[in-house]
Amino acid sequence: MAKIMNKKDYKGKITSIKNVALNTYEMKISSDLDNAMCGQFISILCPNKTLRRPFSIADFDKENKILTVLFKLRGEGTQYLKSLKENDTIQFMAPLGNTFKLENKNCLLVGAGIGIAPMLFLKKEMNKKGIKNYLISGFKEENEIIYGSDENVVGGSVLDNLEDLIKQKNIEVIYSCAPTIVLQKIAQLAQKLSIKSYIAMERVMACSIGVCRGCVIKIKKNNEIIYKSVCQDGPVFEGCEVVWD
Ligand SMILES: Cc1cc2nc3c(=O)[nH]c(=O)nc-3n(C[C@H](O)[C@H](O)[C@H](O)COP(=O)(O)OP(=O)(O)OC[C@H]3O[C@@H](n4cnc5c(N)ncnc54)[C@H](O)[C@@H]3O)c2cc1C
Ligand code: FES
Repeated sequence: MAKIMNKKDYKGKITSIKNVALNTYEMKISSDLDNAMCGQFISILCPNKTLRRPFSIADFDKENKILTVLFKLRGEGTQYLKSLKENDTIQFMAPLGNTFKLENKNCLLVGAGIGIAPMLFLKKEMNKKGIKNYLISGFKEENEIIYGSDENVVGGSVLDNLEDLIKQKNIEVIYSCAPTIVLQKIAQLAQKLSIKSYIAMERVMACSIGVCRGCVIKIKKNNEIIYKSVCQDGPVFEGCEVVWD
């Protein structure tokens, strides 16, 4: 999980914005940002909002310097994003946070709801490198399904039958982005089955750059408990090192 320190503020131009599922939008942004890796995120400045809004990078086209984010409508920040049109400009900080560590093993990717966003980027990178992977995504309703998964769970939970799936497909590493309670269950299941898990955590972020310490979580290292920031040390952590309070 490499730390990337060259983050800065960018002005981007929206090259497309479209509705891809219920209350869910895909936005493509062209800017001078010339590198971004899976697991990382951007933090978008929204008018009249002191706190920027963080969004996972769902894809990055290095050749054309276009990044993709998927966002779900929540409050005023995401309503602002929805109101944007092609050729509008936005300001964002990037690339933020650490990256998923790619392992050349049998990988299971688990996304719940909009948590599919970083999983799509990860899957693309794994496919490029020939890493065997299987992406399962969970949605509350059929009309919330976002493209790109090998399997969608609708109505139930991605946790249903997960242990069977892991055994069936001889999974050796799990990657996930999902609500905290789901991540906790995945990390615990991985530990029970003695396999590795990498989880992308979500916290409300005030600064997004490791300054305010508002996003810290407890981590176990060499029998000691230490605090790590989700925005800078994460968002990706090994499941076995997170302390679930
Ligand atoms: C690392 C990271 C990656 C994320 N990736 C995505 C993504 O790819 N797509 C997506 O739709 N959402 C993503 N989120 C969540 C997204 O940041 C919030 O949905 C967004 O900030 C809500 O803004 P709002 O103004 O529309 O809603 P508000 O009305 O401000 O808030 C609605 C809800 O969003 C949460 N929220 C508000 N501000 C923040 C903040 N600064 N950080 C985190 N949560 C916040 C609050 O807990 C609240 O419950 C991510 C969050 C983090 C931390
Ligand atoms: S949001 Fe400020 S330290 Fe992470």
